[in-house]
Amino acid sequence: MDRLKDKVAIVFGAGPNIGGTIAHFLAREGARVCVMDISQEAANETVQFLRDRGLEGFALTGNGRSDEDVKNAVEQTVARYGRLDIAVNMAGRVHWSHVLDMKLDDWHDSVASFPTAGLITTQHCARAMMKTGGGSIIHILSTAAHFGEADGAAYCAAKAALLSFARSSALDLAHLNIRVNTVTPCSMEHQLWSTMKDEMFDPNWKQPERTGFYSRQEYLDQMPLRRFPKASDIAWATVFLASDESSCMTGADLAVDGGLRHKYPTWSPGKHYPLDVRDYARSIQLTRYGEPQGPLTDHLGEPV
Ligand SMILES: NC(=O)c1ccc[n+]([C@@H]2O[C@H](COP(=O)([O-])OP(=O)(O)OC[C@H]3O[C@@H](n4cnc5c(N)ncnc54)[C@H](O)[C@@H]3O)[C@@H](O)[C@H]2O)c1
Repeated sequence: MDRLKDKVAIVFGAGPNIGGTIAHFLAREGARVCVMDISQEAANETVQFLRDRGLEGFALTGNGRSDEDVKNAVEQTVARYGRLDIAVNMAGRVHWSHVLDMKLDDWHDSVASFPTAGLITTQHCARAMMKTGGGSIIHILSTAAHFGEADGAAYCAAKAALLSFARSSALDLAHLNIRVNTVTPCSMEHQLWSTMKDEMFDPNWKQPERTGFYSRQEYLDQMPLRRFPKASDIAWATVFLASDESSCMTGADLAVDGGLRHKYPTWSPGKHYPLDVRDYARSIQLTRYGEPQGPLTDHLGEPV
């Protein structure tokens, strides 16, 4: 509590998963939070969640890739709360495609999305932060920033560009006491159960021959900590980078990925310490905004 007392934050991209949980945790630590999302419904829902818990925030609809929208968000935040100390950016678009099938429009849309939002949010937020002695900018990456991913050339290129952008802007802004750091999640627990497939949740599912698709069990077998990150894991790392506890850190990347990035690639932890994905599913609870959402259910809606 109070780790971010008197600080003011903007979160760009704030649905109930990573962004909304970050907004929740920043506000719980005392920050006043502007929540901007391209979806009005998502922004409003997140702010309603904060207000229901007596936390301070306001919602804006806007595109993190729009110079005008981001400028407006910063102006409204400063007008309302008098300053800006923290900016968290995760806005962008993903187009999955085999590299030979990649459409040029999709490529431009993806590759221009995450780093463009990075540039625009950094420019407007840093200009506001320098007026009050500095601040902390945090970009949410992905393991895609560090590895190649089949069918993910556009996403990987976009997140890798955001990583390099963050490091460079950290150097440009260091003398202004504006720190720029990143957080790298791997595939998240909410993502795993909502979009990934396997035979447990869909008995008709067959593993496609194409690369880039794997079952939950295969993914779990790669995780040294035998678990996936929850949105709250990303939010805790973000709170730390937003707070003065990390005041000597800039240009750094925090991997919040159960050890995935730091293992030897050909070593599969699951082969040495097996964990059945069904047992794993029974041991976790999905969350929204970092709060329990109820037990996992299978394709028939039955608890697993
Ligand atoms: N879910 C995962 O497994 C995972 C893994 C690694 C990294 N990430 C990254 O974490 C971030 C958030 O992931 P999530 O799972 O919470 O996603 P999500 O889709 O649940 O939420 C993303 C939110 O951002 C908003 N948004 C998208 N584009 C925007 C834009 N241009 N301007 C403003 N708002 C915008 C969406 O409306 C949505 O509310 C993304 O940057 C994603 O690439 C996610």
